[in-house]
Amino acid sequence: MCMRMAPLLLLTVMSLLPTIISANGSSTAENEMTHLHFFFHDVVSGRNATAVTIIGPVTSPAGTGTGTFFGLVRMIDDLLTEGPEPTSQAVGRAQGFYAAADLAEVAFLQPMNLVFTAGKYNGSVLTVQGRNAPLHNMREMPVVGGSGLFRFARGYAQAHTHTFFANGDAIVEYDVYVKHFSQN
Ligand SMILES: *[C@@H]1O[C@H](CO)[C@@H](O)[C@H](O)[C@H]1NC(C)=O
Ligand SMILES: *[C@@H]1O[C@H](CO)[C@@H](O)[C@H](O)[C@H]1NC(C)=O
Ligand SMILES: *[C@@H]1O[C@H](CO)[C@@H](O)[C@H](O)[C@H]1NC(C)=O
Repeated sequence: MCMRMAPLLLLTVMSLLPTIISANGSSTAENEMTHLHFFFHDVVSGRNATAVTIIGPVTSPAGTGTGTFFGLVRMIDDLLTEGPEPTSQAVGRAQGFYAAADLAEVAFLQPMNLVFTAGKYNGSVLTVQGRNAPLHNMREMPVVGGSGLFRFARGYAQAHTHTFFANGDAIVEYDVYVKHFSQN
């Protein structure tokens, strides 16, 4: 009977993560909610480009996908800053790629690590993986994990284009809300 109860107990403990359950059953850590606000600089033009096309767009056998850049993949190491100007205080880099994955509209699969390089979060990383349809005013992508101060992170990132330049460069405003382990 005791043996049959074990999987149920395990599930109960797992559902309480990221609260640590010590041997005597008391909580030793709590969840923390953090809101991060910064600007993402997607520079595709010029010698200082930080978003570089590694695979060009394709056309599907049925001829769809032209106009939505289907198949385009750009590797990014984009600067993150406190304010909208690229010269404003740097807070990190967005490292990953965006890949046009929709035949009907411009929408990217966007897996990336937000690598923080300033202040309290210097050295901590948030991992984002989601759908980014850049022509929409507000996009939402899940935060699927993190490291450093962001261990056990779960949450979402909201992206809103602040400025889109004729040369294809863009400044995107991000609001990221994450629940993670409190490690003070
Ligand atoms: C539970 O264990 C922790 C650390 O092992 C200890 O500090 C705490 O006093 C214990 N709580 C109770 C109610 O026994
Ligand atoms: C590239 O960056 C350097 C250093 O910030 C700057 O001096 C130069 O003007 C930039 N070049 C272009 C093409 O934007
Ligand atoms: C961030 O951490 C690295 C490595 O510990 C350190 O070299 C760097 O000076 C730190 N940057 C800031 C802005 O604190």
